Amino acid sequence: MTETRETLRTNLLNQIDHDNIPAHIGIIMDGNGRWAKSRGKTRIHGHQEGARRVKTVVRFANDLGVRHISLYAFSVENWARPSFEVSALMRLIRAYIVRERNDLHAEGVKFRLVGRIEELAPEIIKQAEISTELMKNNPGLSLNLCINYGGRAEIVDAVKKIINKGFKADQVTEELISGHLYWPELPDVDLMVRTSGEMRTSNFHLWRSAYSELYFTPVLWPDFDDVELLNAILAYQNRERRFGKISEQLGKE
Ligand code: IPE
Ligand code: IPE
Ligand code: MG
Repeated sequence: MTETRETLRTNLLNQIDHDNIPAHIGIIMDGNGRWAKSRGKTRIHGHQEGARRVKTVVRFANDLGVRHISLYAFSVENWARPSFEVSALMRLIRAYIVRERNDLHAEGVKFRLVGRIEELAPEIIKQAEISTELMKNNPGLSLNLCINYGGRAEIVDAVKKIINKGFKADQVTEELISGHLYWPELPDVDLMVRTSGEMRTSNFHLWRSAYSELYFTPVLWPDFDDVELLNAILAYQNRERRFGKISEQLGKE
């Protein structure tokens, strides 16, 4: 980190309200391909660099007291990419889970895979289960790695579970649906961040983002760091979350 980056980080840290840290941050980690292309490198190289950024961001978020970070690493739509890229991404994901396990555990974080997990390679499922089990009692942030995740798929899967359990139409409530999502204990997303300048959410956390604050940055994911995360959190802290009410009602109940 350069001297100026360090100064920037300190300045931003001084501005942060530590009593208003978003409990659940979702990040759409986009722009690996463009980052690599601009350097004359392969898309796979971009994904490798992107995977490296995860460590900085997760560690920093944990230190700040964020409780959940959901990282969109592979969508249900991403299977449509060239098979070479899909295989490389799957290898990277598996390698990440194994390589980072001990460090994540030492930092006290929890680990969850979120998505249609059963469709993933058995080796990824197995490695993820080892991490989840190892870290399940840790006190820190929960790293929710979203793989083969689709917001619509998650709702479809929830509805199927509800029907299979025999619930009747008049028993269906928002709580019932929330309770049948992939990990029912995950709270709503407070702050959803997307890198790379695209202003869409691409099927990420559909149900849990109903009242998320959205933050878009042109920074490409492999360039995203603690300073960028602080910028996003500061922007979040400057929003007024009204949840349908009017300003005057807030903070009075
Ligand atoms: C995000 O980077 C990573 C995944 C979707 C797996 P992209 O690969 O989408 O990068 P761009 O959007 O092509 O730059
Ligand atoms: C969203 O990025 C999915 C992930 C970051 C995993 P994409 O690059 O796949 O999204 P679109 O296609 O530009 O909407
Ligand atoms: Mg993209």
